[in-house]
Amino acid sequence: MDVTRLGPRELACRALCGREKPKELSSIAEQPCAKLRRMVLRYRLVELLADGKFRSGEWLGRELGVSRAAIWKQVRALAGLGLDVQAVRGQGYRLAAPFQPLRVARIQTLLPAPVAARLSCLEVLQEIDSTSDYLKRGAPFGAAGHGRACVAEWQSAGRGRRGRRWVSPYGSSLYLSLAWQVSSAALQSGGLSLVVALAVLRALQGCGVADMGLKWPNDILYQGRKLAGILLDVSGESTGPFLVVVGIGVNCRLPASAARDIDQPWADLSQSGVSVDRNRLAALILEALVQTLDTFTREGLGAFSAEWERFDLIAGRAVELTHDNDNRIAGIARGIDSRGALLIDQDGDTKSFHAGEVSVRLI
Ligand code: BTN
Repeated sequence: MDVTRLGPRELACRALCGREKPKELSSIAEQPCAKLRRMVLRYRLVELLADGKFRSGEWLGRELGVSRAAIWKQVRALAGLGLDVQAVRGQGYRLAAPFQPLRVARIQTLLPAPVAARLSCLEVLQEIDSTSDYLKRGAPFGAAGHGRACVAEWQSAGRGRRGRRWVSPYGSSLYLSLAWQVSSAALQSGGLSLVVALAVLRALQGCGVADMGLKWPNDILYQGRKLAGILLDVSGESTGPFLVVVGIGVNCRLPASAARDIDQPWADLSQSGVSVDRNRLAALILEALVQTLDTFTREGLGAFSAEWERFDLIAGRAVELTHDNDNRIAGIARGIDSRGALLIDQDGDTKSFHAGEVSVRLI
């Protein structure tokens, strides 16, 4: 990552939980401006509350070198990040749901060495507009077969498919992006986004989540509701190679306040009964991504078609596809073709579609 391209806010984010701890960002009082001081204070406060135990305002103030009033102000600001902080007279503050902060060192130890070696950069950010936009702002290409990855605790402008917003409350989900160079032959063979969905599904299975399936092109559903979503951003000259930024959001434990903003049926890992350290989930996803991207580059979508069929939730069902400029087509889903396009049968006439949004029709 070319750090000269980053603003002070992004640098502070990296320093707070990244592998580098520049001296100038190590203490709150040393921050160059009031805004950054407040930001560092806020995230140090979250760290102290992360275990879900009560901490008094006095103790927190002492630990962080600020007044109790400053702590109170920051506690209120945490609600704006989607964190539910309980304040109880005589006991202090605590997070309603404890969480394990994301850490570069922890993710790295959980990654198999050959996979870690394929990541030229792995960063944890406290806050960012979008992890995918962050990687897109970085250097365009690394070495072929090597990627840059980042995860964030909070996204202020998380992006979903088809121009939607991805609700991204602090610390309660995984927001992960991986920038990877893909050859023009592999990209044009089709099916990359489906293969990424299979990688995420494999990683979630590795955490013990069952009862999942896929809705074309790349939604991961748990008991029919969306658990994880994938967004691919592709850039490059028409002759390639292409830079693909794979953005993945997995709902882990969504607070009720954030869930109210989601406009589709959703699920989170806590509903599946699986409690997973997001660092482990990030490592499993990165491992599965690197493996599947390698296989996809060598063998194409064909290597995954049986697995896709096994998890395809819409094959044989009556669906409606919204595509190009809100055009709609209804029919029976008939799986995918060799390029990953969705096949829809309308009275015996089967057509293929490369993009769109599927809804299952109740008939
Ligand atoms: C979808 O709509 O299904 C795709 C959601 C993708 C969300 C992830 S979160 C990490 C990355 N950063 C973003 O802004 N979006 C993706």
